[in-house]
Amino acid sequence: STRFTFRTGRQVPRLGVMLVGWGGNNGTTVTAAVLANKLGLSWMTKTGRKKANYYGSLLQASTVCLGTGPSGDVYVPFRDLLPMVHPNDIVFDGWDISSLNLAEAMRRAGGLDWPLQEQLWPHLEKMKPRPSIYIPEFIAANQEERADNVLRGSMAEQVEQIRRDIRDFRESSGVDKVIVLWTANTERFCDVVPGLNDTADNLLILEGCAYINGSPQNTFVPGAVELAAQRRVFICGDDFKSGQTKLKSVLVDFLVGAGLKTKSIVSYNHLGNNDGKNLSAPQQFRSKEISKSNVVDDTVQANPVLYGPQDKPDHCVVIKYVPYVGDSKRALDEYTSEIMMGGTNTIVIHNTCEDSLLASPIILDLAILTELCQRVTFCTEADPEFQGFHSVLSIVAFLCKAPLVPEGTPVVNALFRQRSCIENILRYPWGRANTSGTQRSGSVGPSARGCPAPTRGVAKSSRSWCPRPGVPSAGG
Ligand SMILES: NC(=O)c1ccc[n+]([C@@H]2O[C@H](COP(=O)([O-])OP(=O)(O)OC[C@H]3O[C@@H](n4cnc5c(N)ncnc54)[C@H](O)[C@@H]3O)[C@@H](O)[C@H]2O)c1
Repeated sequence: STRFTFRTGRQVPRLGVMLVGWGGNNGTTVTAAVLANKLGLSWMTKTGRKKANYYGSLLQASTVCLGTGPSGDVYVPFRDLLPMVHPNDIVFDGWDISSLNLAEAMRRAGGLDWPLQEQLWPHLEKMKPRPSIYIPEFIAANQEERADNVLRGSMAEQVEQIRRDIRDFRESSGVDKVIVLWTANTERFCDVVPGLNDTADNLLILEGCAYINGSPQNTFVPGAVELAAQRRVFICGDDFKSGQTKLKSVLVDFLVGAGLKTKSIVSYNHLGNNDGKNLSAPQQFRSKEISKSNVVDDTVQANPVLYGPQDKPDHCVVIKYVPYVGDSKRALDEYTSEIMMGGTNTIVIHNTCEDSLLASPIILDLAILTELCQRVTFCTEADPEFQGFHSVLSIVAFLCKAPLVPEGTPVVNALFRQRSCIENILRYPWGRANTSGTQRSGSVGPSARGCPAPTRGVAKSSRSWCPRPGVPSAGG
């Protein structure tokens, strides 16, 4: 066994989050939701009065079992495990290729009830996205009409402007830290080109901010991963895990874990928001298809009783753009499994949800967890020098469709193992890694696969720990 000492900075900073795609459905909805919570707003709908809340946020709206006391199990909100930023205190800024102010963009997004929009309007109309870099070939051609807020000049000049924006935001808003999060359109995959983006030397580094990728494209090319490690900056992603994929990562875990041989998974979606419009182009759809498709691989590979080495379920993903349904996405899934003695079990699910109201709390959790991880360091008896987590921050896998992990580390997609990973890591700093539930089930613990924890000298459970020996720490 290895003994770890954890240290957590208890000074919670003033956090600034810069969104790439601030004027989109997610960007406006998350900004509006935080403001509505901060102002304690409520509004009437046809089903009664609603109050601002953070439902759907792992940190704000779910609990952790601390153990069993005289009157039974004791639960606390996740957010109370360690000192962390409250979403109401986040300051937002960002970029968008569309020039609409945040109030007009909120109306365009159509994710919030009108009486709430009316209350938020005077606040949001003062917020305007900064002009952004627009390279048309990366997103669908149908996005061109909204691109009226774009930077001009050489690519180097445009990058320099983005750097200035970050510095300007930091200084003018008085925040202590800035995290940048991509919630702009899904881009096509880029080629990894030797001499261009394959190594750290061939890329520019920006302002030392953690960077979170909420879309599926391969922004984290080998050069970017290498550069993040060199500069000790956290990177994490890819693609918010909000609806259909979240359910899939539970359902297939249940089916295969119960000994049922899932043979076919067919997932159909239709949506009518701008994300759906962008995804109606083949290259952008392909990015999403890849991100959605690998989610069952580890669960299937973990059961050689049911699946041979080349054996895996048929898995088909379809996405269609239907403008009328707006942000209210429909996801229809069919899971077909072989059961005992040649029998068949087919489960069909129809899920309707407002897309950006599911993604917004995930955006908040990603930013808050990333910031917290910047304040956690640890050492071992064998290596007493304090270090941080690996720069590829895989602790956030619970929140991502296609979790980015350090090279050579197995990817865990099963949702509750991902949740246990976050829970355990948040418990380490106060020495309570095992919950009574964990002990009872015996299924997870401090060495749950996929936990992105310590580095040097951890040989015993190499499959359990993400970083490789000698990997530098990440300070963000
Ligand atoms: N439930 C969800 O909403 C969900 C789940 C997983 C992933 N995602 C991903 O999150 C992203 C955002 O989703 P959305 O519904 O807000 O989409 P959206 O189309 O409403 O918003 C994207 C915004 O990005 C802007 N944009 C495009 N290129 C840009 C650039 N280069 N710089 C700055 N801004 C740029 C667009 O003008 C738009 O306002 C999409 O890639 C989507 O696939 C969303």
